[in-house]
Amino acid sequence: MKFYLLTIFPEFFNSPLRIGLIDKALKRGLIEVEILNLRDYTTDKHRTIDDVPYGGGEGMVFKPEPLYRAIKSVKERDPETKVIYLSPQGKLLHQRLAEELANEKSLLLICGRYEGIDERIRAHFIDEEISIGDYVLLGGEVAALVIIEVLSRLKPGVVGTKDSVDRESFTSGLLKYPAYTRPSDFLGLKVPEVLLSGNHREIESYRRKESLRLTLERRPELLRELELTPEDRDYINSLLEKQRIYLFLIHYPVLNKRREKIASAITTIDLHDLARLSRTYGLKGVYLIQPLEEQRKLAQELIDYWLHGKGGLHNPLRREAMKKLTIVSDLEEAIQEVRNMEKIDPLLVGTDASPKRTYLLPEQLRNLCWEKPVCLLFGTAWGLEDSILDRCHYFLEPIWGRLDSYNHLSVRSAASIIVDRILGIYSFYKKKLLPKNNQFQERLVS
Ligand code: ADE
Repeated sequence: MKFYLLTIFPEFFNSPLRIGLIDKALKRGLIEVEILNLRDYTTDKHRTIDDVPYGGGEGMVFKPEPLYRAIKSVKERDPETKVIYLSPQGKLLHQRLAEELANEKSLLLICGRYEGIDERIRAHFIDEEISIGDYVLLGGEVAALVIIEVLSRLKPGVVGTKDSVDRESFTSGLLKYPAYTRPSDFLGLKVPEVLLSGNHREIESYRRKESLRLTLERRPELLRELELTPEDRDYINSLLEKQRIYLFLIHYPVLNKRREKIASAITTIDLHDLARLSRTYGLKGVYLIQPLEEQRKLAQELIDYWLHGKGGLHNPLRREAMKKLTIVSDLEEAIQEVRNMEKIDPLLVGTDASPKRTYLLPEQLRNLCWEKPVCLLFGTAWGLEDSILDRCHYFLEPIWGRLDSYNHLSVRSAASIIVDRILGIYSFYKKKLLPKNNQFQERLVS
């Protein structure tokens, strides 16, 4: 595979291409690199490659003519060359894109600088615009090196064995399992026993599990794309069991529309919908917090109808969901019940439609769920009163809705949206993948 590098700093590439496996791959002819100095394609005596932007503004823009001449000269010599412009506005580089690019015979990598290149070149003479990440470098040279390194690894012979390429993070679609080397005991920190066992089947299985665990904890979205074996699924399910989320529906103290402290009445539909939500997403339970005895009795009667009466006989699925509900008289009692089960203090996470406090994003809370049991506190009526909010360790980002100030979801809708934002990403293993060559899926991943 051949890489043409078009740059105004040819010397930039002197040392990185002379080191390690890239140096070897070049010497063995597995890859080829030709560096082109953009200034060699200028025609004026100052070798000018840039100019001020039309319309004013900061910085300089690469002029179209030298770029055009450089691209043309490469295309004349090597017509199949794919022209790539490196810029932060491009498509994000990921392993799948790298695998596609590795099939090309040659690439011309254009390293931008300053305010970028003239739009007419970008729009008409570039095949693909690629970014290596959501940050801004001083120029495309580092990005070009990244592309050379990522693609070279995929060329047979560049890395020792195909096996070691296949085992890397992303090639298998999973993050790589942790590696250990001698000594087996370092400052009292031991290497996992199984790695010393010599049992290759067990070692393989341990490594696969570690890859699944790391991916689930750090990059769960990657699992969506994977074909999982039944053993993988069982293992993932056992890990997900470790996420313990409880939902607290608070009827006192909450606010009314005049922001006065009140106790609200239990709503039947909340019980049904929150129970079903809880069962569907694997929550550990829903606590209804209601200080009014008559209200508690009424709700318990309803629950009993589904657990022990005709309701449950007629609709066993609903009975299964209703088992998730527990009625208590105050927040302390609910916390104590969770503490008794979990043997550890849970994190209390408040939800509030009108943000007054700094809040966590759903993915931040998702990460916390691996560490501690989490109780999500939802207020009925016009929301949780300050004395409850003051007890919370964290707050969740509100559901904002859109455009105007109208923001009046029912508590059960808000709970469903929030729970899906935290846990919906783990539904990947229920989802059937769309056919591989499906246009819709291609658009989704690109
Ligand atoms: N040039 C400047 N920043 C870049 C990035 N993130 N990716 C590719 N080229 C760049």
